[in-house]
Amino acid sequence: MRTGNGSARVRVIGAAFAALAAASVGASDPERGQRKSVACVACHGPVGISPNPTFPHIAGQHATYLQMQLDNFRSGERYHPLMTPIAQTLTDQDIADLAMYYSSIGPLAEAQR
Ligand code: HEC
Repeated sequence: MRTGNGSARVRVIGAAFAALAAASVGASDPERGQRKSVACVACHGPVGISPNPTFPHIAGQHATYLQMQLDNFRSGERYHPLMTPIAQTLTDQDIADLAMYYSSIGPLAEAQR
């Protein structure tokens, strides 16, 4: 078997891809997400629990789900006259950070660790 060099090369290539991915969107950071969430408080409440039934609670949802919804609002795949323009101001990094922040609050937070 000729594994030695081959697997080393795979590791090097893997590291290069990881570095590229990190350059486009860094690791999501819930604390950065919390700072960015000031833009969301008016409608979704101070910690993602909305005081008004017009606006959904977003705390404690899965990060992947939140990220998907924000991506969909931004692309127009999901449209809402209030939410779409807000999502269009967010970068990929903002979305990752906000999704991580809101998912870190509430009942699902422990289960997702
Ligand atoms: C002006 C009010 C307003 C602001 C500010 C706002 N949103 Fe929203 N958001 C809404 C409304 C209304 C909906 C429900 C849209 C619908 O019915 O499809 C929504 C839906 C969402 C959803 C989807 C929830 C679900 O269960 O599918 C997410 C995620 C979300 N908002 C995140 C954010 C984030 C993050 C911010 C801050 C960057 C933000 N919102 C700021 C009004 C707002």
